[in-house]
Amino acid sequence: MDTIFSGIQPSGNLTLGNYLGALKNFIPFQDTHECYYCVVNQHAITAPQDPQLLHERTNQLAALYLAAGIDPHKATLFVQSEVPEHALLGWMMITLAYVGEMERMTQYKDKAKKQGESIPFGLMAYPALMVADILLYQAKLVPVGEDQRQHMELTRTMAERFNQRYGEVFTIPEMFTPKGGARVMSLQEPTSKMSKSDDNQTATIYLLDDDDAIARKIKRAQTDSENSIRYDRENKPGVSNLLSIHAAISGKTFDELETDYAGQGYGTLKKDVADLVVGELRPLRERYEELSGSPELDAILTAGAEKAHAKAHETYEKAIRAMGLYR
Ligand code: TYM
Repeated sequence: MDTIFSGIQPSGNLTLGNYLGALKNFIPFQDTHECYYCVVNQHAITAPQDPQLLHERTNQLAALYLAAGIDPHKATLFVQSEVPEHALLGWMMITLAYVGEMERMTQYKDKAKKQGESIPFGLMAYPALMVADILLYQAKLVPVGEDQRQHMELTRTMAERFNQRYGEVFTIPEMFTPKGGARVMSLQEPTSKMSKSDDNQTATIYLLDDDDAIARKIKRAQTDSENSIRYDRENKPGVSNLLSIHAAISGKTFDELETDYAGQGYGTLKKDVADLVVGELRPLRERYEELSGSPELDAILTAGAEKAHAKAHETYEKAIRAMGLYR
């Protein structure tokens, strides 16, 4: 059975983008692959975090994984900092990375721009930790949103670099992106991605938003003045974003949607998208309420860390042997 690895940062409230781009797609793999899903809290600290809030969000994210349909009998769910090999192999990957290639990461460049003079070094090192996360589990496939493409290419490059220098240790992973939801855009500025850290709350649908908030935000979403419903990211980013949210939930193709909505107004499309999103997120929110703070969650994460540790340790041993890091 091939292995899947993916992670989400507990750095803010999860958005519809995290759900459609990543979390929703984690579920079907549980029946066909050996799956490891991680709360990547060591990635979250590459930006300053309030310790209490980080702790709360770690548990909250674990509960959301389960509420979305992760089954602990099928997949391994765990918290990154409880498996020390992530940081250990992360350091080894840092020593293999080049400053130039890390500086070229667009996510780093975007985030660094907002930091002024004191750019945390962890922001630059971060993709090397992501490389370690994936390689530790010998993952064949990594389900992520489109914004992780460059990090995934780096992962392949670094796995190949290690294997060439030190012998075959790591599986070269591939990226898996969903057809509809790989890039959910801001509802207010549909040329930038929907993000946990957007200050404009109307631009973002959070997974725990109630039905009214979801409907209100979609109703106010930016469109254009043309009043024709077709998929054209370049010229009609707002409408295309609504269509891709629709497609990611309804499973319809853009061609089918264009036919369905021929001659209809934006109001109808928005109403239908709101109904789809509400229908998708309501059960998740209800399951989340039941799970959060339950002792069961704690037991699942303890068992998950143990299982993940066993697998990670096996790969880590091979990597240190290959590199000569032993007596
Ligand atoms: P993070 O926490 O920013 O996002 C988690 C997942 O959500 C996807 N995503 C989106 N997809 C579609 N549209 C959007 N607007 C949108 N916003 C976020 C992301 O692509 C991601 O799949 N570096 C990663 C976390 C990570 C990781 C890993 C992922 C660390 N180690 C190993 C995979 C494998 C990150 O910051 O994701």
